[in-house]
Order: sequence, then structure tokens, then C-alpha cells
Amino acid sequence: MFEGIAVHKRLCWGVFYLLATGVTLTSETRRPCPQSCRCNTELLEVNCSYGQLSTVPNDLSQDAKLLNLTHNNIKTLVHQHFQTLTQLLDLDLSDNLLAVVELEAFHGLQSLLTLRLARNHLKIIPVGAFAGLPNLQLLDISSNEILVFLDFTFHDLAALQCIKAADNDLVFISNQAFTGLTSLQELHLDGCNLTAVPKEALTQLSVLRSLHFRRLGLTTLPNYSFHHLVRLKELVISHCSWLETLSGNSLFGLNLTSLTIRHCNLSAIPYIPLHHLVYLVFLDLSFNPISYIQGNLLGDLLRLQELHLVGGSLLRIGIGAFRGLTHFNLLNVSRNLLTTLEVGAFQSVDTLKTLGLDSNPLACDCRLLWVVRRHLYLDFGGKSPTCTTSVHLQGWDFLDFSEVEIPGLLTCHQPRILNRKPQDVKVDQGHTVVFYCNAEGDPLPSVSWLNPQLRPLSAIGRIRALSNGSLEVRYAQPQDSGTYLCVASNAAGNDSLPVSLHVRAFPSSSKNPFRLKGWFAFPSASPGVNGNQKLPFDVKTLLIAATIGFLSFFSSVSICFIFMLFWSKSKGQIKHTATIAYVPRGAMSSSNGGTGNYMETSRFTMKLI
Ligand SMILES: *[C@@H]1O[C@H](CO)[C@@H](O)[C@H](O)[C@H]1NC(C)=O
Ligand SMILES: *[C@@H]1O[C@H](CO)[C@@H](O)[C@H](O)[C@H]1NC(C)=O
Ligand SMILES: *[C@@H]1O[C@H](CO)[C@@H](O)[C@H](O)[C@H]1NC(C)=O
Ligand SMILES: *[C@@H]1O[C@H](CO)[C@@H](O)[C@H](O)[C@H]1NC(C)=O
Ligand SMILES: *[C@@H]1O[C@H](CO)[C@@H](O)[C@H](O)[C@H]1NC(C)=O
Ligand SMILES: *[C@@H]1O[C@H](CO)[C@@H](O)[C@H](O)[C@H]1NC(C)=O
Ligand SMILES: *[C@@H]1O[C@H](CO)[C@@H](O)[C@H](O)[C@H]1NC(C)=O
Ligand SMILES: *[C@@H]1O[C@H](CO)[C@@H](O)[C@H](O)[C@H]1NC(C)=O
Ligand SMILES: *[C@@H]1O[C@H](CO)[C@@H](O)[C@H](O)[C@H]1NC(C)=O
Repeated sequence: MFEGIAVHKRLCWGVFYLLATGVTLTSETRRPCPQSCRCNTELLEVNCSYGQLSTVPNDLSQDAKLLNLTHNNIKTLVHQHFQTLTQLLDLDLSDNLLAVVELEAFHGLQSLLTLRLARNHLKIIPVGAFAGLPNLQLLDISSNEILVFLDFTFHDLAALQCIKAADNDLVFISNQAFTGLTSLQELHLDGCNLTAVPKEALTQLSVLRSLHFRRLGLTTLPNYSFHHLVRLKELVISHCSWLETLSGNSLFGLNLTSLTIRHCNLSAIPYIPLHHLVYLVFLDLSFNPISYIQGNLLGDLLRLQELHLVGGSLLRIGIGAFRGLTHFNLLNVSRNLLTTLEVGAFQSVDTLKTLGLDSNPLACDCRLLWVVRRHLYLDFGGKSPTCTTSVHLQGWDFLDFSEVEIPGLLTCHQPRILNRKPQDVKVDQGHTVVFYCNAEGDPLPSVSWLNPQLRPLSAIGRIRALSNGSLEVRYAQPQDSGTYLCVASNAAGNDSLPVSLHVRAFPSSSKNPFRLKGWFAFPSASPGVNGNQKLPFDVKTLLIAATIGFLSFFSSVSICFIFMLFWSKSKGQIKHTATIAYVPRGAMSSSNGGTGNYMETSRFTMKLI
């Protein structure tokens, strides 16, 4: 009670004092602090935050530098309401219910540097709303419901450096929307239904350095999307769940140092669109379903220092993936599906300072020995990698290893080709041969095949290395003969096994290659023919071929004979199974619905009688 009275008294005195000082300063027309605001007369700040205001107070001090009107219920900003606040530097209208901003609402705020209108209900900004703000540097209109930017919306903001327009519902940006923004350096855009990059509008922003896009409704980033933004250094595209590819020339004209494409739907690293970005330092492709970083394809990014690919689907990082990147010092691939990361992926691990490798199903073997050995020099971001797939080291933290036990724990076993019994195959031309090669080792070795000229064989073609390790030679030709080499290799070394193939040519093959080809097309037309299985057809073709070779006249006669034989045989078969005569009659009687049917039925009944 007493305390209340005391406070009341003090307040009264305070008010009296304020009034008194106000009176002494009336020559300067200094106004008192508006109700529901708190004024800091030293810093010239007016804090009307949480004041339950529904309009902007009228009696504001003219020399205020900061006016904070956040968390009120202001719905409308009327024409020239701030006219008198010529000294104001900072106006914060965030978190209100603003839906209408009238023309020239901010007119007279000639010193204003910062204007915040975030988290309101603006749907449209009328052209001319921002008139009379010659010194404005930062405009924050994020988290509104803005649908379009009309032509000349920002026309008078020649000093503006940064627009924050994230979290809106932008559908369209007019071609001249950014006209007049001659100083704009940073632009944050967000449009869930923006189905095209506003190329034309962006060409106005000749000094833009940083561009952020969120929620673009594109599946492919088109060619020349940004090609007038020659000063752009940072491009961020995020939360574009439709974006699957970047066209080859989509980043043409840019000279970026930082590129982020996060939370999109890229399934591969966009090597081609990136390769001209020789000044790129920072690349973030996190949260894309990228499964593989190929070897030797990022070498053009000479100055790249950081690659972030967190939360992707990475299964493998190829040998030489970061070859040529002499400044590379950070790799963050946490939360992927990597079983290993080989030292051969890097140009040199000496430059590597930070490595995010946690939350991957790592197989702890000799391939990761380098990580353990360097753990004192590497920053794992507080989460060191753990072994998950090798049984005896399950759940081990990389920092748990002591220097002594490391080499004994992280081991690999050299590959060993199983079942080394000699495979010497002699076949006739046209047959299909399969050689087997099966290897064990830790990690599981990869099996490849070399041809007699010691060149690697691919998985496609007539002679191909199958995914299960076998080598398949289809429709063997004499020139296929020779010694093939199976090589099984893993991080610990390699093992090899030679096999030999000898293909017997038909004596006639050199004489009559043309016609023979035609005949031999028969076995090739039926896939899955194996060297061990002989088709009865082969005997016939052989016979025919031989006959052609020896006696051309007799051969033609015998061909005719064989054909006639076949023909007569097949005719005979048709006779046996023929049911043709029966079918049309039934069909006719059933389809003739009208008079004919009546006739037939009548005749039928007559016979019956
Ligand atoms: C402004 O006033 C509100 C409500 O009294 C208070 O919570 C906030 O801290 C003040 N802000 C500043 C910058 O003084
Ligand atoms: C205005 O006040 C709110 C809270 O009262 C605060 O969060 C905000 O930063 C202030 N704005 C400025 C420009 O100081
Ligand atoms: C954007 O598109 C989605 C569906 O494609 C629709 O549901 C949503 O209302 C649209 N938003 C706007 C602001 O047009
Ligand atoms: C992402 O891409 C895959 C194909 O690469 C497609 O099946 C999927 O629907 C895409 N996701 C979205 C959200 O478009
Ligand atoms: C984009 O440019 C590349 C390279 O010039 C070209 O191959 C591709 O067809 C272009 N794509 C479109 C959609 O025009
Ligand atoms: C590209 O940017 C780098 C620095 O970011 C600069 O040194 C270089 O001159 C620029 N190149 C061109 C062609 O503008
Ligand atoms: C990798 O990125 C994730 C997510 O951004 C972060 O939490 C983690 O600290 C980073 N790791 C390193 C080593 O920088
Ligand atoms: C490998 O696949 C081929 C064709 O699918 C098959 O013929 C061969 O028997 C397979 N080899 C092994 C070792 O399973
Ligand atoms: C197999 O290992 C040897 C050294 O042990 C190496 O010289 C050779 O190049 C390797 N061969 C292949 C195909 O990797």
C-alpha cells in the first residue's frame, strides 16, 4: 500500500519534472514521450514496442533517431504520417498487422537508414510507397504475403543496399521492378510459386553482390539465368524441392566466390555449370540426393577451399575427386552413406583442416588409417567419426584409438582370386564364352578385366566385364583369341588371373564373309546362347556354310532342297492343327443378327421336323 503510494508519488514527480524540463525546452518544441512508449532522451530512442497501439502515435519527438513500433496492432500507414521525423535513422514496424501502406507513407524520413516491415500482412506494395527515402540502406519486408513486385516499386531508393524479402508468396516479379536500385548489393527473394528466375528484372542490379533465392518452383535452372550479374559473389538457392538439374550454361557470366544450392533435388554435382567458376572458394550442396562425387571433375575450381555436402545420399567419393584443389581445407560430408573416404580423393591431405565425416556407416579398415593418423590436426566439428560396419570395431570413436594400436586395428587384406584352376577355352566362331573370376579380400575387392592388349574392358559391348566379376565374350571371333587378365584390387593391393581363349574360324569364313554374316546372324538373334549349349540349328548352318564353301552350284540346289523340306514340313504341321474352316462359319452365324439368321433358323427347324 505504502509502496504503491510512494511509487505513485515518484511517478507524479517524474511527470512534473518531465513537464518542467519540457517547458524549459519549449523553444525547441520538444514533445513529451507518447503514452505507451518509453523514451530514452539521451540516445534519442523511442520504444513503443508492445504498446497495444493501433495507429502510429502523433506526438513523436522530432529529433528521435530510433522509433520502435514492433508488436503492436497497426494496420495502416497513412500518407506522409512520418513527415516531421527528419532525424530518424531507424524505423521498426515489424510484427504488426500492416496490410495497407499508402502512397508516400514514409515521405519526409530523409535521414532514414533502416526500415523494417517484417512479419506483417502486406500483400502488395503500391508504386510510390517508398518515395522520399533518399538515404535508406536496408529494407526488410520479409515474412509478409507479398505476391508481386510491380514495375518501379523501389524506384526512389537509390542508396538502398539490401532488400530482405524472404518468406513471401512471390509469384511474379515485373521486368522493371528493380529499376533505380543502383546501389543494391544484397537481395533475398523467396517465392513458393516463382516459376522462373526473374532474369530481366535482375539485369537492373548491376552492383549486386549477394543473391538469395528460396522456394523456386523450377525443375531446371535455365541457361543464362544470371548473366548480367557480373559483380555477384554469392549465390544461395535453397529449399527448391523440384530443382533437379542446372543447365550447362545456367551460371554463365557469373564470377562467384560462394555458391550454395541446399535442400534441393540435385542427384549429381553440376560439374559442367560450375567449371568456369575458377574463383569459387565455398561450395555447399547439402541436403541434395547426390550419391557420388566423381574423380577428376572438380579440378577447374582452382581456389575451392570448402565443400559442404551434408545430409545427402553419398555412397562414394571417387579417387581423385578433389585432385587439383590445392587450397582445399574443409570437407563436410556428415550424415551420408559413405563407407570410406580414401586419401587418394585429395590432392593432399596436408591442407585439410576440417573434416565432417560423422554419421556415416564407416567401415574401419586401412583406407581410413589416414584419418586416424591425422586426428590431432583435423577438426571433426565436435563429432568424430565412428566405426559402424566392421564387427570388431563396432561403435568405436576415432579418437579412442591410441597411436600404438591403430595399425593393428585398421587393417585390410589383399585380394585373393578364388578357384584358380586354369581356364583354357577353345571354341568355334560364333559361340559365347563366359570366364569366371571370384575374389575375396577386405575390403571386398573390385574385379576388372584386361584384354590381350592389356586394355580395360567395360561393362558394355560384345566382350564385356559383367557386374558379378565374370567376363563374357559373345559370338566369339577368331581375333578375340588371346590371354585375358582378371585383376582383383582393393586398398591393400591386387591379385590377377590369366585365362585364355582360342576361337576356331571356319575355313570358309575368309572366302565368303558376306554371306556367312547373314547366316551367322541366326544364333546372335537369340540371346542367352551359351558356349556349352549347342543348338541343333548350329549344325544346319554349319552344313549350309560348308556346302557353300565347297561347291557353289550344289550348295544352291541343296539350299533350295532344305528350304523345300522345311516348307513342306511346316505345311504338314499346319494341316494337322488347322481349324480354319470351322471358325468363319461360327463367326458368320453369330454376327448375322438379321434376316440371314432367321432364314437359317427356319431351315434348321424344318430339318428337325
Ligand atoms: C522496449 O520495450 C519493451 C517493452 O517494455 C521491452 O521489452 C524492450 O526490451 C524494450 N526495448 C529496448 C530496445 O529497450
Ligand atoms: C524493437 O524492439 C524489439 C523488442 O521490443 C526488439 O526485438 C527489436 O530489435 C527492436 N528494434 C530495434 C530496431 O531496435
Ligand atoms: C502455390 O502453388 C501451390 C500449388 O502449386 C498452391 O497450393 C498455392 O496456393 C500457391 N501459392 C500462391 C501464393 O499462389
Ligand atoms: C526429386 O527427383 C526425383 C527424381 O530424380 C523425383 O522422383 C522426385 O519426385 C523429385 N522430388 C520432387 C519433390 O520433385
Ligand atoms: C543450355 O546450354 C547448353 C550448352 O550450350 C546446351 O547444350 C543446352 O541445350 C542449353 N539448354 C537449353 C534448355 O537451352
Ligand atoms: C572474379 O572475381 C575475383 C575475386 O572475387 C577477381 O579478382 C577477378 O578479377 C574477377 N574476374 C573477373 C573476370 O571479373
Ligand atoms: C558439418 O555440417 C553440419 C551441419 O551443418 C554441422 O552441424 C557440423 O558441425 C559440420 N561439421 C564440421 C566438421 O564442420
Ligand atoms: C555372372 O552372370 C552371368 C550372366 O548373368 C552368368 O552367366 C554367370 O554364371 C554369372 N557368374 C557367376 C559367378 O555367378
Ligand atoms: C598391382 O599391384 C602392383 C604392385 O603390387 C602394381 O605395380 C600394379 O600396377 C597393380 N596393378 C593394377 C592393375 O592395379
